[in-house]
Amino acid sequence: MAIQATILPTGPIMLSGDLGEFQIVGADGQAFDIAGKEKVYLCRCGASTNKPFCDGTHSKIGFLAAEGAVKSGG
Ligand code: FES
Repeated sequence: MAIQATILPTGPIMLSGDLGEFQIVGADGQAFDIAGKEKVYLCRCGASTNKPFCDGTHSKIGFLAAEGAVKSGG
């Protein structure tokens, strides 16, 4: 199964599929340890204290994804 990125409504991006060879690398070039994980959740609200991974904070801050955001005036 290919790797799939699923954008969860008002939440993280879920990576699933064959993550065995997949790497997530930080700006410092170091890979995050995702060995053995079947799913990985990447924060897209910006509020996680465990970036790049989601820690559930999006639900506490009322994160609304762009597709659900209210348009600003102007
Ligand atoms: S998307 Fe979950 S903490 Fe940011």
